[in-house]
Amino acid sequence: MPPVSEAPFFAVIPGAQVHQVLEGRHEEVVRIVEAAYRLHGSGDTVNPPSYFLRFPDRPDSRIIALPASLGGTGGDRVDGLKWISSFPRNVAAGIPRASAVLILNDPDTGYPLACLESSIISAARTAASAALAADVLGGARGQRPRRIGFFGTGLIARYIHQYLAGTGWTFDEVGVHDLSAEHAEGFAGYLEQSGASGRVTVHDTAEALVRDSDLVVFATVAGTPHVTEPDWFAHHPLVLHVSLRDLAPEVLLSGANYVDDVDHCLKAQTSPHLAEQLTGGREFLDGTLHDVLAGKAEVPDDRPVFFSPFGLGVLDLAVGKHVYDTLLASGELAVQEGFFHEMRRYG
Ligand SMILES: NC(=O)c1ccc[n+]([C@@H]2O[C@H](COP(=O)([O-])OP(=O)(O)OC[C@H]3O[C@@H](n4cnc5c(N)ncnc54)[C@H](O)[C@@H]3O)[C@@H](O)[C@H]2O)c1
Repeated sequence: MPPVSEAPFFAVIPGAQVHQVLEGRHEEVVRIVEAAYRLHGSGDTVNPPSYFLRFPDRPDSRIIALPASLGGTGGDRVDGLKWISSFPRNVAAGIPRASAVLILNDPDTGYPLACLESSIISAARTAASAALAADVLGGARGQRPRRIGFFGTGLIARYIHQYLAGTGWTFDEVGVHDLSAEHAEGFAGYLEQSGASGRVTVHDTAEALVRDSDLVVFATVAGTPHVTEPDWFAHHPLVLHVSLRDLAPEVLLSGANYVDDVDHCLKAQTSPHLAEQLTGGREFLDGTLHDVLAGKAEVPDDRPVFFSPFGLGVLDLAVGKHVYDTLLASGELAVQEGFFHEMRRYG
């Protein structure tokens, strides 16, 4: 271990500071996420399975632990843990479904460096990953889609729209569908006032949304598949299946399938996991996003294309470390004095 030159310190980074660092930096965050995917693809990360804490008395809620380590060279190395709750009933009570913290650890000493508010980091890295996938998978098929459809219209849908718009995507048509008419209208209102391109249509039926979109974003909280008709995808859209459990395995099997990490994605009853159970194997997978990035997998344009990202802890670490480094460099890090107290071996 290298000599420790100064006493370890610990910082708390609230959501307002995270927002300040990331706001409007869509392109930069996409590049950070891409670099993390490349490190992960080259084996320079440790990203064990997520641990799901579930509650018998609150079956729709969960808290997930995502430990991870980001390798590489230089100052970007970091270890840590994301601890993220999903309580869907929060939405009716007027607060967001998801809340999270991220702990960053020093890779040389193991000392925790900081605790960051992480619902923003989580939404940002998810949206940046979706925008990257749209570019990489869509780009490999030629022309960018001009008609986008949002299936499920919560915070994640809003972030994905912001990241697409913020990285140069424009649309002729923006479709919206949600089980809740109120949420669909709220999202349509956000789209109108965002000033982004495209005629906004609220679709009453799931079928109309899918059939009228060439880029479909699933961001619902469905626990089991509710879209079961492969025929709805006969026009071969690119589908960002961010919520992971909307599509029946038969739908996935009608197209080409990409994931962020095979072992992560094929568990916890995700749609790709169901497809594995149905087919008895993983042959239905066409590659990872990194495979396409690295030119090791092709993307067809004569079938629908599905991207199902499980969401890797290394992405949170990469974006969280960027926030930490930015605040450290600008002298704005809120250090907690005396956080580590018992520091001398014999008192
Ligand atoms: N893969 C990843 O990396 C990743 C990361 C973050 C979040 N997510 C997932 O994204 C999803 C959305 O998160 P959010 O914070 O926006 O949630 P949210 O609760 O804010 O919004 C979800 C919306 O989906 C709607 N909905 C639920 N079931 C539906 C259905 N069957 N059909 C149509 N609409 C339906 C709800 O009415 C709500 O408006 C969650 O499932 C979350 O787990 C995935």
